[in-house]
This record gives sequence, C-alpha cells and structure tokens, in this order.
Amino acid sequence: MLLTGHQLKLAATRLTAQLSRSFAAAAEAQQAATPSPPSPPKRAPNKMGGWQFHSYGDSDELQYCDKLRLPQIRNSDECLVRVRATTVNPIDVAMLRGYGATLLNIMRCKSGDSIEFPLTLGREFVGELVQKGMGVNGSDQLQLGCRVWGVVPISSTAGAHAEYVVVSRSCLAAAPKNLDDKEAASVLYAGLTAWSGLYISGFLGGPCGATTAAGGGANKRVLVMGGSGGVGSLAIQMLSAQGVQVLATCSENAVDMVRCLGADCVVDYTNPAQLEQLAKYAPYDIVLDCAGQGSQHAAELNFDFRQYITFSSPLLANIDKQGICLGALQNVSELLQSNVKAVTQRGGLVKWGYFYPAAHGIEFLQRLVERRKLMPLIDSSFDFAELPKAFERIKQGHLRGKVVVQLKDSITGC
Ligand SMILES: NC(=O)c1ccc[n+]([C@@H]2O[C@H](COP(=O)([O-])OP(=O)(O)OC[C@H]3O[C@@H](n4cnc5c(N)ncnc54)[C@H](OP(=O)(O)O)[C@@H]3O)[C@@H](O)[C@H]2O)c1
Repeated sequence: MLLTGHQLKLAATRLTAQLSRSFAAAAEAQQAATPSPPSPPKRAPNKMGGWQFHSYGDSDELQYCDKLRLPQIRNSDECLVRVRATTVNPIDVAMLRGYGATLLNIMRCKSGDSIEFPLTLGREFVGELVQKGMGVNGSDQLQLGCRVWGVVPISSTAGAHAEYVVVSRSCLAAAPKNLDDKEAASVLYAGLTAWSGLYISGFLGGPCGATTAAGGGANKRVLVMGGSGGVGSLAIQMLSAQGVQVLATCSENAVDMVRCLGADCVVDYTNPAQLEQLAKYAPYDIVLDCAGQGSQHAAELNFDFRQYITFSSPLLANIDKQGICLGALQNVSELLQSNVKAVTQRGGLVKWGYFYPAAHGIEFLQRLVERRKLMPLIDSSFDFAELPKAFERIKQGHLRGKVVVQLKDSITGC
C-alpha cells in the first residue's frame, strides 16, 4: 500500500504519541505497585469543585470553589457527566470579559436561568457518563460509566470548567478510543466550528454534507487562513480527508507543522512575496478565515473566491454595543456592505460561520478520528487548579493548537 507524505507524517506523529502513552502506562503500572497516597477527604454529596465568575473582567475574576452544587438534570433528554479534561478557547477569554452578554443573557432567561451570575465557562469536555435523564432511552448505546466527549452550547450558564456538567444527549457521543483524555477534549468545539463553517455556512458537501455526517467536497479548492490555530488545524485535516485541495496560511515558524496536517500548499502570511502566490491558485471555492481577519478583509484580498467565510463576525459585539434592535440593524448593514464590496471586487459572497453543536457534526468528526484522519494539535496543557494560567496562555496568542485543562483526579480507561 502506498502512503502519501501526509499519511506518513500523521503515522509518525501517532506512533510517537502511542510510544509516549506506553511509557506513561509503564510508569503508572510502576506507581500502582507502590503504596498509593492517602485519598483526598470525601466531599459532601451533591457538591463539586469548579471555576466560576461573578462579574466580567480578567482571569483574576475566576474563582475556584469546591462546594458548588452538582448540576441537576432538568430536562428528560439531558445527561450528567463527570469531567476528566476540558479546554480553554478564545471564546472563554472573550466571554469572561463580557463578550456576547446581551444576547446570551436573553437566551439564558428563555431557558430558565434568569440570573446572569455566577457563570462557569468551558465549551467542551471528555468525561464519564454518570446519570441519564428519563428520556434518554435505556437501549441508548451510551451506558452509564461510558467515556464520552461532548460540547456545551454557548448560552449555557454551567460549562465544563467544573467536575461535573449537564448537557443534552445530542451534544454527547462515545469518545473515540484512539484518543487519550487531553486529545479527546480538544476536538469538538473547534472541530464543530470548522465543520459548520464549511458544511453548513459554506454548503461544501451540498444538502447531504449539511444534514448528515457525509462531509464531501472532493476536488474543490479551499484556502484556510490561520492553519496553525485550534480551528484551522482541524479544518485542514478534515478537508484533506475529503479530497479537497487545501491551501493554508500561517506564520513562518508553523509552516512545516501545517504542511504535515495535509495542506497541499502553505504560505507564510508575514512574507508579502509568498502571499502573492495565493493568487496563482484562485479562484477558491471557499476562503475560510480562522485567523480573526473578519468580513472587511474579504474585499482586500487580491484574488477571487466564491465564498469567504469568517468566524470573526461582529454579530454579538454589535448587539452588546447597540442593543438588540440597533445591533441587529448594524449587523444586516455590515453584512450587506461587505457582500456588495466582495461581490463587485472578487465575485464571491461573504458569510459568517459559527460553532454549531449538531449531532451529525459530532458523528462526522468521530468517524474521521476513528479512521485516524484527524488528530488535534495540543499547544499546552494545565492542571485544573491552574485554570487561570490557561486563560493567560490564550491571551498571549500565537497558539499552535489547543489549550487543554486536565482535572487532577481524572481516571483513565472505561
Ligand atoms: N464564531 C464562532 O462560533 C467561533 C468559534 C471558534 C472560534 N472562533 C474564532 O475563530 C478564530 C480562530 O479560533 P481558534 O480557536 O483557532 O484561534 P487560535 O487557536 O488563536 O488560532 C488563530 C491562529 O491564527 C494564526 N494567525 C494570526 N494572525 C494570522 C494571519 N493574519 N494569517 C494567518 N494566520 C494567523 C495564529 O498564530 P500566529 O499569530 O503565530 O500567526 C494562530 O495560530 C478566532 O478568531 C476565534 O475567536 C469563532
């Protein structure tokens, strides 16, 4: 069987990961032979540890409390999960500063959480299923004790930066066995963002790609701007696995890494001469902005495209600044303006892409991981007690993949 360069490099990365896991397993076995340290004092029933904040601001607003009430299953389709690992994303840093509060609070009030604070952040997790709502069928493939991965919708007040989280069954699935906890916690939020940008906003796989886990888009050409970050690095791998021709931009020091992810051509965005090369491959079916460039950037590009999809939409910020009605008008006006410019100058549409917690999106990502076509990059990893440091890492920027937080007393295996 002939392997492409990309497959060889992914295989090498996985071999290294497997070896390091084997060493870790050997070390754990050795530890198991020695007397174990005294177990921590038992916590009162229905209490848990978690990070909350009571007013918007910087990471010093984050407070750890080990006497939080365990989240309750309120709807019959919900499940309670004991979190083993979670992540911090740029959205967590922004939400801590109050980003999106106007619209998100309205959505929270509708779902019964009428008080704004305290809030717990954390959009994704891997953990252990400990309780199922009455409506989650007994014959459901997810059994209690099962290792699951999942996402928390952005409007929830109780995210995954806690020992337990409650989410609806559709936001959960069995975690892929070939990923460890840190890796499994690092796929879904960025992965569902990339997937929904490409397959829902961008309609890359047509109606089937948008409504099922089928993916698609073979032989199309996509430029991923920001291929070194959490969203971009997963977008490149999922596109490459679908037979899409992928071009990517990143800083010089990430070029080799991004090429290994499967990009056919990688360009250093800090080098104007290299950026010029992107015009040679135009027109692009999709330009995917994972680099925070925003809608206005579309008309500044010196090549044509059919669609420019940015994950940096002004939607929530405009509503924060101007309220629901004026903010909504401002959004319509900005989207129209950037489309008029992009259509007249570059012949393509501008769209806004969003994280969307769809069950078929999770299934799409799960299949890719299980076929070993998708592996998250991990930028850095922190203990749960150090969660504010993970926020600081995000604020420094120049991320190379995901910032993971591992809960101290997490268990392995299922
Ligand atoms: N709308 C939504 O629902 C949603 C969901 C998730 C993420 N997002 C947004 O999507 C963007 C990507 O998220 P993420 O989690 O992947 O962020 P990230 O991990 O910080 O990745 C951004 C990457 O882009 C690189 N970069 C910065 N400027 C660049 C440029 N001009 N050209 C090419 N690459 C550049 C950065 O590295 P260097 O600075 O070293 O080059 C970094 O590796 C962020 O703006 C985030 O806020 C939106």
